[in-house]
Amino acid sequence: MSPVASDQYQESKRLHDASSRYLAGGVSTAFRMFERPVPLVCESAEGSSWTDVDGNRYIDFVCGYGPVILGHSDPEVCEAAGRAAASVQQVGGQHREELELAELLCQHVPCFEMVRISLSGSEAVHGAIRLARGVTGRSLVVKFAGHYHGWLDGAFTGIAHPPPGLPESAGQPHEAIAGVVVVNWNEPEAIKDLFARAGDRIAAVIMEPLPCNQGVLFPEGGYLELVRELTESAGAILIFDEVITGFRIGLGGAQERFGVIPDLTVVAKAMGNGFPVSALGGRAELMEAIATNTVVHAGTYNGGGVSVAASLATLKRLSEDVGVHERMVGLGGRLMAGLEQAAANHGLSLVTAGPGPVFFAWFSQEPVRSFEDHLNADGAMYARFAEAMLARGVRIIPAGRWYLTTAHDEDDVDRALEAADDALAGLS
Ligand SMILES: Cc1ncc(COP(=O)(O)O)c(C=O)c1O
Repeated sequence: MSPVASDQYQESKRLHDASSRYLAGGVSTAFRMFERPVPLVCESAEGSSWTDVDGNRYIDFVCGYGPVILGHSDPEVCEAAGRAAASVQQVGGQHREELELAELLCQHVPCFEMVRISLSGSEAVHGAIRLARGVTGRSLVVKFAGHYHGWLDGAFTGIAHPPPGLPESAGQPHEAIAGVVVVNWNEPEAIKDLFARAGDRIAAVIMEPLPCNQGVLFPEGGYLELVRELTESAGAILIFDEVITGFRIGLGGAQERFGVIPDLTVVAKAMGNGFPVSALGGRAELMEAIATNTVVHAGTYNGGGVSVAASLATLKRLSEDVGVHERMVGLGGRLMAGLEQAAANHGLSLVTAGPGPVFFAWFSQEPVRSFEDHLNADGAMYARFAEAMLARGVRIIPAGRWYLTTAHDEDDVDRALEAADDALAGLS
């Protein structure tokens, strides 16, 4: 795959300039601003393929930043959503499929006994934290450096900045995160020490049980068990944020994979193959506080017909397609090994980590095992790599994360590796 000429992004550039006049930054969410040479404007996306307004076609590993798991515009999911749009689009009342979806969620996610359905990961996290504080009557929330739990004030800290937690954004009140303690991930002594000092004041520990945002960082053996034990004996709530890992690394997410069951879980992204849907759920005894409205959980669009139908269609497909996750694990594994080898062939050190359906790649001399390692990797070089891949017809996230779908095949992997070989030759 040879690179396309730089004027091949002409129409995207024109539209980005024009929309920057009316749309702040020319985008609708901060993360899309970082695509280079320009945030691309999509004409259409189908399966594993993504076509921009200049007619350039890419193999897409951005996958909507994680939600797309069956491929773009999956016909079955879109058909289910279309049917719901024509009948129960926004009825301001319950509808049958909500029950079916809630049952399916409780069947697949080990910690779910009762759920509430909403639209985005951030708001479901917000609900989980409010619920934990509501049922414990405590205020401290522990999160981990580098773990991302959405952009809302109460959990938006300890992401870009190393601990101690600072607001991540101007306008975010210090008070919103005054009750949030940021601890280093995978360091048993740090969390033990915190519980020894303040265990009776901790409402919740929230974590990405397999962090994927700032590198994919596997938990060290025994670490999740330790946090489970500490929270349980202190009467604190353990919240798993499985917004990325839920349904993506397996139907039961990271909790099933690692065999550690939290009290509450948040799922989103892959749950709806790109339609906006999320869920907060957990032990019935805790969810009872929401059921009685002691802890308020609300949202005009929650449980809307289209999102629920799309989610049901997605989860049914994932649960009926035997071996679906193993296939993504296989393709992801080939990609990870192939990228490392291609870099080595050009005298570069690229390392990867992840379960396969999602993984991370970095330019680093050493394996990346911690948030600090992640921060020390060569991000600028990776951004150049992403741009070089784009020019060769492969769209990846400039920060380093890759997503796969069931629509990707061996040919996509071959072509991506061929593009990587060529892109890396230009970087070495
Ligand atoms: C682990 C995690 N939690 C929460 C969120 C926030 O979800 P949303 O962007 O749907 O609000 C994200 C988004 O990327 C995420 O990765």
